[in-house]
Amino acid sequence: MGMIYEKIKRHSQKEDYPFHMPGHKRRGLDIFDGVHPYEVDFTEIDGLDDLHAPEEMFRASMDRARSYYGTRETFYLVNGSTSGIMAAIASVCQLGDTIIMSRNCHKSVYMAVELLGLKPVYLYPKVEEENGLVTHIFCGDLQTIVDNHPDAKAVMLVSPTYEGMTMDVKAAADITKTAGMTFIVDEAHGAHFPFLKKREERYLQFPTSAIECGADLVIQSLHKTMPALTQTALLHVCTEKVSIRRVQECIDYFETTSPSYLLTASIDDAISFGIEKKEKFEDYAQRLYWLREELKKLEHLSLVPVDDPGKLVISTSKTNMTGKQLYDILLNNYHLQMEMAQETYCLAMTSVCDTQEGYDRLIQALREIDRNLVTKRPVVFSKWMMENELVYVPNRARAMEMTENLIEESEGKVSGEYVYLYPPGIPLIVPGERVDQACIDKIREYEKKGLKVRGMADPDGKTIKIINEQ
Ligand SMILES: Cc1ncc(COP(=O)(O)O)c(C=O)c1O
Repeated sequence: MGMIYEKIKRHSQKEDYPFHMPGHKRRGLDIFDGVHPYEVDFTEIDGLDDLHAPEEMFRASMDRARSYYGTRETFYLVNGSTSGIMAAIASVCQLGDTIIMSRNCHKSVYMAVELLGLKPVYLYPKVEEENGLVTHIFCGDLQTIVDNHPDAKAVMLVSPTYEGMTMDVKAAADITKTAGMTFIVDEAHGAHFPFLKKREERYLQFPTSAIECGADLVIQSLHKTMPALTQTALLHVCTEKVSIRRVQECIDYFETTSPSYLLTASIDDAISFGIEKKEKFEDYAQRLYWLREELKKLEHLSLVPVDDPGKLVISTSKTNMTGKQLYDILLNNYHLQMEMAQETYCLAMTSVCDTQEGYDRLIQALREIDRNLVTKRPVVFSKWMMENELVYVPNRARAMEMTENLIEESEGKVSGEYVYLYPPGIPLIVPGERVDQACIDKIREYEKKGLKVRGMADPDGKTIKIINEQ
């Protein structure tokens, strides 16, 4: 057996419980028929349809999906939401167009802006002070930006965020519609929403999918929160505003010409599961309700309130422990693998495939850890989302001549590179933006805290490529 297979096989045999993606929690064998991947690894051959021009099995499966979701078309994607986001933007924007986007968009949005030569106008979400968590985008801010940029072709927002915060998508849809712009929603982390709607009042409520809130294009990663294999995603065309044919053409730009049919089968299975196994989602919501109630009883650790109850943001901000320390203890001492850690919290991702045993282990572990903690005053997070001057659009900036410059000596100069902390991957600087002192201070502050700033070509993070201006 190959070394990669050996390594992942051994990893899968550990007793680490997965509070992370993919949403199937590696329980596909319990949930679906155990299949041998090589036996069904097909791509386009006679009798097995073509994902890029669906007529037979794909057409039938996609027809069922669009009728369930209530969309005009639901495309199956095997290159993740990344490809869907890029295709969605390409389908409505042309070279030189303006796009309004939230600054906390995923890197795929930045890549599309750069590749397509678009001019970005940023909408800055609010950041809460206790954990530095990106919270909401106010529709008032959206309205102002839309009014100031009536020529923008599209508005691109992310809802929910990685940590489960949503925005008022319906109000945003009304604003963009009135302005005649196309509204694209990155709902990569909300693929489970359509299967958890209209629930009994006394239990947890999940947000309504952007599909139902009037967005024109919605992209969802099935693999993040649904029982589906990694890389599986959906691109929904919800309204008449966008041409289905154009979206298909743009998917072809960004998606492999050899789609894995194993992945497409997993998409079909996950949607069937959602439609047919209502009781599993009910059970998930009830167990999650119980878990959240138990977590609320902890004395020092706290559960940050977010809109998607499936995301457990466990804050250490009032304790003598960092988010990373909590993450490490949960993994090393309790064999609970979290999705990610930040300075003052760690994130556990749940899904319909979780077991009660997993939840019991998490609450047990957190109770034990909590008992030994000390309460302290929370640090107040300083502003970290930068509002820089845009001098050149990213596509132009990337093509200009650049010189490497010490970061400390770059104030007032124009960056040719991205600079970001990952996670969350929200850029401090985008190519074409002017570097200011606040930005330099932030980079140094991260370094001092041992957090790795990425994006620059320099692996040591000491220099940044600066555009040579005449
Ligand atoms: C907010 C957001 N959008 C889009 C993506 C891309 O999704 P995918 O991994 O399916 O390409 C991610 C990935 O983590 C994400 O967090």
